Amino acid sequence: MAAPRSSAARIKRFADSTTPLVRSEWYVAAGSAEVSETPLARRVCGVDMALVRRPNGAVAILADRCPHRGYPMHLGTVEGDAITCGYHGIRFGLDGKCLAVPSQDRPPKGIALGVYPAVERGGWIWVWPAGERPPSGRSPPETPWLDDPAWTTLRGRVAAGANYIGLHENLIDLSSFSYLLRESVGAAGYAQAPFVLRTDARRVHVERALSGVRLPPFYASILGDRGAVDRRTLSTFESPGFQIAHSEIRFPDGRICRTKILHAITPADANATHYFWAVARDFAVDDSAASARQRDVAEPLFAKIARSLEAIAAAAPGGDANDVHLSTDQAGLELRHIIQTRAHAES
Ligand code: FES
Repeated sequence: MAAPRSSAARIKRFADSTTPLVRSEWYVAAGSAEVSETPLARRVCGVDMALVRRPNGAVAILADRCPHRGYPMHLGTVEGDAITCGYHGIRFGLDGKCLAVPSQDRPPKGIALGVYPAVERGGWIWVWPAGERPPSGRSPPETPWLDDPAWTTLRGRVAAGANYIGLHENLIDLSSFSYLLRESVGAAGYAQAPFVLRTDARRVHVERALSGVRLPPFYASILGDRGAVDRRTLSTFESPGFQIAHSEIRFPDGRICRTKILHAITPADANATHYFWAVARDFAVDDSAASARQRDVAEPLFAKIARSLEAIAAAAPGGDANDVHLSTDQAGLELRHIIQTRAHAES
């Protein structure tokens, strides 16, 4: 187990709710099913956007502000590959080019609608809110389980009225499982279990393992209570927009059941977060009753995390400068340090 380093001297290096948002990153803006030819309004990293599905099926993400007088573009009308502003009728292509201005023969020089890079992958629409083209090699994370028929996936979205950093810290800190989530996936002893922490300049990995434990209620409801099992969970902070937990349960007969819990964490602004979650499993894949039970657990579970963060934000609106840190907070502090470094580099 890696010994947590002292964090007292590093407190000012950790991102908090006052840290500028990191825009040069991929974030999930919407689920694929949310986007159609009717514009969808969404705020990402403080940027208002309008998401539209083109006739060829691709998704365009536009600035939700007409460059003429700022009318919201999601209130406009889409026809084919063009959108018309609902205020004075300027028409733009979904690539942002101005096509026509009703009141004059030629568009004013330089008028264009902002467009944001978009990628559709695994049932999610990813956006790069900095606007410019992402550097080469910077793609949204690979999520093959979401498209693989050997896995079954549940997904949802929770709106949290709180800063996104608290959500990252909660999800990387599996010690909260013992308490916050004890009726569902939590396991007695998780908070005390040894953990291994690894970090580099961009990622944080936390691994915990428990041997000879009882299945938590949720898993037992699907798999049956088979006595003592071994559990291993590897949680990775991939970026300010994404975390993933790889969970394995190993049974005495050697069988292994795997679950991937994907957390797409998208700051709407400093005080609000879109939390897109997906849970993929490689067992009971065709069992619809198991999926229904899993949804009955997962939806209130993720909502409970969001409500907890809102309660913290309401109780301490001035921020977290006086928070005391525990040894189990080390992973959260590491990811907050990465976010702080990224935000500083952008400013
Ligand atoms: S505000 Fe859009 S055309 Fe005038």
